[in-house]
Amino acid sequence: MPSTCVVGLQWGDEAKGKIVDLLCDRHDVVVRYQGGANAGHTVVADGTTYKLSLIPTGILRPGISCVIGNGVVVHPPALLKEMETLAGQGVDFKGRFFISDRAHVILPHHLAEERLTEESSSVADHLGTTRRGIGPCYRDKVGRVHGVRVGDLFHPEQFRAHLDRIVAYKNRLLAAMLDDFTPFDAKTVADEYLGFADRLRPFVRDTTAWLHGAIGEGKRLLFEGAQGSLLDIDHGSFPYVTSSNSSAAGIAAGSGVPTRHIDRWIGIIKAYTTRVGGGPFPTEQDNAIGERIRRVGREYGTVTGRPRRCGWFDSVAVRYSARISGATEIAVMLLDVLSGLESLQVAVAYEDEQGNRIEDFPGHLADLERCRPVYETLPGWNEDVTSCRSWSELPEAARNYVRFLSKQVGVPVKIVSVGPDRTATLMVD
Ligand code: GDP
Ligand code: IMO
Ligand code: MG
Repeated sequence: MPSTCVVGLQWGDEAKGKIVDLLCDRHDVVVRYQGGANAGHTVVADGTTYKLSLIPTGILRPGISCVIGNGVVVHPPALLKEMETLAGQGVDFKGRFFISDRAHVILPHHLAEERLTEESSSVADHLGTTRRGIGPCYRDKVGRVHGVRVGDLFHPEQFRAHLDRIVAYKNRLLAAMLDDFTPFDAKTVADEYLGFADRLRPFVRDTTAWLHGAIGEGKRLLFEGAQGSLLDIDHGSFPYVTSSNSSAAGIAAGSGVPTRHIDRWIGIIKAYTTRVGGGPFPTEQDNAIGERIRRVGREYGTVTGRPRRCGWFDSVAVRYSARISGATEIAVMLLDVLSGLESLQVAVAYEDEQGNRIEDFPGHLADLERCRPVYETLPGWNEDVTSCRSWSELPEAARNYVRFLSKQVGVPVKIVSVGPDRTATLMVD
């Protein structure tokens, strides 16, 4: 049975949540395979706005099962809070929500460690993270000795002993590095987390086995990427990235499902570019154009409320990320935000200081920082496109703009979005 992945091709917030929600009609299971509560996916349906962070977007659709895969990092209090909020909006979790016993757990010391690297004046380089403990938790996963997995919470004696050792180590480290540090008490943390585990118990299982069972029954899976391919730990603009494989490269590792089960690879792009946090952004418009895009597109972070940095579409970056994530088709989102601009610019290549043309997205930060975009200018359109519901209803200039992006990236555009609502979507003929 056909399975699909939805993955961001920029620096996150491409409106993946909206497309996942739409595609639920044709799928049975939605799977998150990486990231954690750093994600913020917004869905607007029937006049109600839903915000998803750790929980797969499919939870909004009754009858769809949702899986938090082994590659996700879970902060139990954040998860329980999100579950409560959604339950208050009428979402039922019973029998359709599953959390991997192999997913790693974010603990209070991870948040303190991130405060250290992101806030402390003794650390020079801040990345501008979401401060959800994502990086420190993945660091402990890869480092192995201090990692705690969801399944560990169901072996209380071993968990307490393990946490005693971890907390002793972290307390010494943090006390040496932070001025205002109050040491953690291992017993208090263990009691608290075992309490969370009791509440999460009905949902925890071997999700890899469950997913393979679902595949055997002919269920159609939908893999929901968080962040974007340019924030991928291996393939993104390192070190200004997140700590997981947020391109499609993370799917097999983060779910236990080999990608041969996927036959539709949807890359999500905004009609322009945004980025939250630090890092190079060659087409950034730190000017009136950027401000206009931010205002019209309401470009403020879902998780942190930070204003998103805004700029023109970058074909060099997306050509690269479409390859990395294997996009077989593209969805162009937020096209409506560009209405009313007299002309639009699209980066088709980069140039270095010597005027050498660069077609491939540079791997080194210093090289990327030196790149200046080479733009092509396209005519804009004045019409409000938010009520368009078919490709032919779009103004000719808007269609030409979408065609141009598709040609630059080298992947067909199949979906165009002209507003936040589920219905504000059109299929490209
Ligand atoms: P995600 O993290 O990739 O799911 O994206 P976010 O939810 O963080 O950001 C996308 C924002 O754009 C959300 O507020 C959506 O409601 C909104 N949105 C989605 N599609 C469109 C669109 O076509 N036009 C406009 N104006 N807003 C959209
Ligand atoms: P969704 O799923 C946009 C960015 C942060 C920071 C960097 C590292 O909504 O698209 P982290 O907390 O992950 O260690 O931060 O990654 N970032 C996102 N930017 N959308 C996201 O998720 C993001 N998740 C992380 O701003 O620059
Ligand atoms: Mg988001």
